[in-house]
Amino acid sequence: MALLHGGQLQQVATQYNIPLNDWIDVSTGIAPISYPIPDIPLSVWQQLPQQNLALITAAQQYYQCSQLMITNGSQAIIKALPALYGKKNTNSQDVYLPERGYKEHAQAWKNAGYHLHFYQESLPVITDILPNSVLVIINPNNPTGKFYNAQVINKYRQQLEQLDGLLVLDEAFIDVMSDTVLVNQPFASQTAAKKYNQPENNHTLILRSFGKFFGLAGIRIGFLLASSYWCEAFKELVGPWQVNGPAQLIAQYALQDTSWQAAQKENLNRLRVMQENLLRQAFPQTILHTINGCDLFLTLSFHQQDTAKKLYKLLCQQGIYCRLADEQDTLRFGLTTEEFFMRLTLACERAAQQLS
Ligand SMILES: Cc1ncc(COP(=O)(O)O)c(C=O)c1O
Repeated sequence: MALLHGGQLQQVATQYNIPLNDWIDVSTGIAPISYPIPDIPLSVWQQLPQQNLALITAAQQYYQCSQLMITNGSQAIIKALPALYGKKNTNSQDVYLPERGYKEHAQAWKNAGYHLHFYQESLPVITDILPNSVLVIINPNNPTGKFYNAQVINKYRQQLEQLDGLLVLDEAFIDVMSDTVLVNQPFASQTAAKKYNQPENNHTLILRSFGKFFGLAGIRIGFLLASSYWCEAFKELVGPWQVNGPAQLIAQYALQDTSWQAAQKENLNRLRVMQENLLRQAFPQTILHTINGCDLFLTLSFHQQDTAKKLYKLLCQQGIYCRLADEQDTLRFGLTTEEFFMRLTLACERAAQQLS
C-alpha cells in the first residue's frame, strides 16, 4: 500500500473545500526559498540526458566525496536497495530502523522479506546487532529532529563492517546542520570520505537529497555516496536516462553556488528561529509539550494524546496544511516565509482556543 506523505495539497484542499491558492502549505520539509532556475539551453531539453561531468565535479566538491552517483532522488535508492542487498549478502535478513522516521525505509525492507527491528531515539545496543544485518539511520531524523554525532555514527559504521552488515545513512536534511555540528562528521571531511570510499568498503551507503535544502523537490535529483561497487550496481539496475538533463544542469549550478548556499543556510536558520517563537507563542505551555526539528521543519508534541489530531483538523479548516504524524500524536510544520507568519500565527492561536 502506498504510504501517506506531506505535500498532498490537492487532496487536502478538496477534502476541506478550500481553493488551492488559499492554503499555506507547510506539510513538507522542503525549503520555502528555492534556488533560482538558470537559463536552460534548448539543446539540454532536446537531447537525451547524458551524465553531466560538471555536475559530478560540483557534487564531489559539495559532498566532499569522490565516489558518488546521481539519482532521481534518494527515494529511488531506498526502494531498490533491499532487493540488491539481499542478493549481495544472502545471509542478511534483519534490519534496524527508527520507529519514527521516513516510513519508506521500513516499507521497502518489509516488502523484501526482512525482519524489522525498531529502535527509539537511542540507536540499538551496538553489541546486540545481529551479523549480516542492516542499520538505517536518518540523520537528522525526520520528523523527530534527532541528530547523532560523528563519533556515534563511526562506532556503528565499524561494527556493521565487522558484522558484514550494511549501514544506511539517510542524510536528506543534513545540509542545514551548522558547521560546528558537522566539523567532526567523518563523512563530511575529505580524508574520511576518501577512506570511506575505498572500493573495498561496501558497508556504508549515504543518501543525500537535493530537493530539500535547495527547495527544488520537483526536479527529482539526489546523490548516492558509496563505493564504486554500489554505484555500479545501482546504475545497472536503473538503466540509462534516469535523471533528466534540465535537472542535472540546475543541480550543477546550485551545487557550485557557494554564496547562495551560505545565504540559504542563514535564511533557513533565521526563519526557523522566528517560526519556532511564533509557534511557542501561539500554543500555550498548557497545550504544547516540546518542539524539536532542524532548520527545515519543526515537530510539535503535546501534553494530551489527541491534541495533534484535533489541531490538524482545526488548522486545515483555516487553510493551514501541516503534517500529522502517522502515529497521530505530533504535528510537523515545514518552514514558511515571513509574509505568511501573521496568518499562520492567527490560525494557530485560533486553533488553540477552539481546542477545548
Ligand atoms: C528522511 C527522508 N529521506 C529521503 C526522502 C526522499 O527524498 P528524495 O527522494 O526527494 O531525495 C525523504 C522525503 O521526504 C525523507 O524525508
